Amino acid sequence: MSLLFTPLKIRNVELANRIVVSPMCTYSARDGLAQDWHKVHLGSLAMSGAGMLFIEATAVEPAGRITPGCLGLWDERCEAAFAELLGVVRPLSGAHICLQIGHAGRKASSALPWERGQLLAPEAGGWTTVAPSAIPQCDGERAPRALTVAELAALRERFVAAAQRAARLGFDAIELHAAHGYLLHQFLSPLANQRTDQYGGSLENRMRFPLEVLAAMRAAWPAERPMGMRISASDWRPDLPSGESWDLPESIEFTKRAAELGLDWIDVSSGGVSQFQKIDLKPGYQVHFAAAIKAEVSIPVMAVGLITEPRQAEAIVANGQADLIALARAMLFNPHWPWQAAAELGASVSVPPQYWRSAPHNLPNPFGPIVQGGR
Ligand SMILES: Cc1cc2nc3c(=O)[nH]c(=O)nc-3n(C[C@H](O)[C@H](O)[C@H](O)COP(=O)(O)O)c2cc1C
Repeated sequence: MSLLFTPLKIRNVELANRIVVSPMCTYSARDGLAQDWHKVHLGSLAMSGAGMLFIEATAVEPAGRITPGCLGLWDERCEAAFAELLGVVRPLSGAHICLQIGHAGRKASSALPWERGQLLAPEAGGWTTVAPSAIPQCDGERAPRALTVAELAALRERFVAAAQRAARLGFDAIELHAAHGYLLHQFLSPLANQRTDQYGGSLENRMRFPLEVLAAMRAAWPAERPMGMRISASDWRPDLPSGESWDLPESIEFTKRAAELGLDWIDVSSGGVSQFQKIDLKPGYQVHFAAAIKAEVSIPVMAVGLITEPRQAEAIVANGQADLIALARAMLFNPHWPWQAAAELGASVSVPPQYWRSAPHNLPNPFGPIVQGGR
């Protein structure tokens, strides 16, 4: 029996299987608003058979967008665009839809990746970025402006407002983005946070703002619906003495503290804060981080990163290294990846009846007991 295809209940959300479509920016919004693109793209992924579908990193304020093409949820117009999007995508399948909420901090104001992704000057459509400290992401770049304590309180309320809008929109779940070198990760990592107030210095102080945001969002988000968080478990700077970059032991401590505040899953990624990171890229390269965190906490753990093969995903769950498997690029390449995985693993997956005839003739039928007539 496949464990990848067993259900998992988190608060009142019952996922049909452990496969998650990882959040993926598509840089196709206008002024933060979802477009027809998002309906088609996410509509296709909603029919993938994955138990949970993420919507890409969505900013809590315009300055928090990574690029001018990123989604936002900061006002009524954004909310209305999401309502229209969900109106199309929701009826297509039983996938639970999770919105990833974040702020890019000093990595905001970037060009689209296919326009080289560099920091945009204001005259090229960029804007002033904000961060814990006035340290640029890359040497020689324009520095961000360090946020004041009063601004942090206001920003926390923007995260709360986005969670409230997401609740009104009927999202099944939300995920706080505290990974990949974006604002909350910038607070956690001593490489980006050199504040001397209560939000910088010790681990306790660096965790303070992310935990404040998490607690405030959790309080604003309906108690019966789950909320997760994505972290970078390491800055991948083994060249630095311990304590000078963010790493696994701090990630474990941070996750424990977040779980005490009502976090429902931890999504374990890595990197993004340092221009000098050295990532050891190979299949499942972040799974050992997920497994190490799972050994220390009781909330579900999501693994991600170069998980591309059904048997590889199955083994991660079967070995107890993680509870959920997120796939990004493999799912973009083949939005029916879970159908193929179900066929390969002898499991069944929910697929719209319009596609039932596609079942491969040389593998067990992954679409369950089928009632099919036709003349
Ligand atoms: C096009 C693209 C966009 C991405 N956007 C996001 C995002 O919005 N939020 C996020 O947390 N990670 C994002 N990621 C990272 C993926 O979710 C995932 O963690 C990473 O690609 C590794 O998984 P993979 O090997 O299955 O692709 C993105 C990745 C890609 C390829």
